[in-house]
Amino acid sequence: MKPVMIFFGVICTLSMAVPSYAKDSADGMEHMMMHQHMMGENTDSRTSLHLSPQVKQHQLANMRSHLEAVRNIVGLIAEGKFDEASNIAHDKLGLTPEMKKMCNMFGNDDFKKLGLAFHQSADELGDVLKKGNVQASLNALHTTMNSCVQCHATFRQ
Ligand code: HEC
Repeated sequence: MKPVMIFFGVICTLSMAVPSYAKDSADGMEHMMMHQHMMGENTDSRTSLHLSPQVKQHQLANMRSHLEAVRNIVGLIAEGKFDEASNIAHDKLGLTPEMKKMCNMFGNDDFKKLGLAFHQSADELGDVLKKGNVQASLNALHTTMNSCVQCHATFRQ
């Protein structure tokens, strides 16, 4: 085949392919983003706590109950039921002997510090809720939730 014919062949193929090329490039982008997402997970730079399978399950159950407590507190603030919200903050998120024990068993000092600070801030939240002021309560809840975010950004199981 002469080079000129090959050249025309390439041009024709390219011009015919324009619409599907545009589509392919969109698919390609999606694929690339998925790949990056997977790479991100593979290169999780958070500190691992190297938990045993049993402790993992225990911790996750505990975490789900933290989330439920936050949900309940938000709902109770909205309903003006501050005493109930305060009790949940102290009992479910505060520094109970059980939570203290839990924070101590991970064998990582930074994690322990973050955990204890979190539970203490939840007790402060409980005290603020008791006073029945929406704005102050939301501020205190915001402070407590900073601990959730900070710890999740730093540690993984
Ligand atoms: C001192 C550290 C720490 C604090 C504070 C903390 N968490 Fe977690 N949480 C973790 C770790 C570690 C995991 C496991 C994450 C992983 O391995 O990717 C986790 C996982 C979770 C999960 C996933 C549960 C599941 O079943 O998959 C939820 C939900 C969660 N946390 C909610 C919360 C909420 C809500 C708060 C605050 C009110 C909170 N956590 C505070 C450390 C913490």
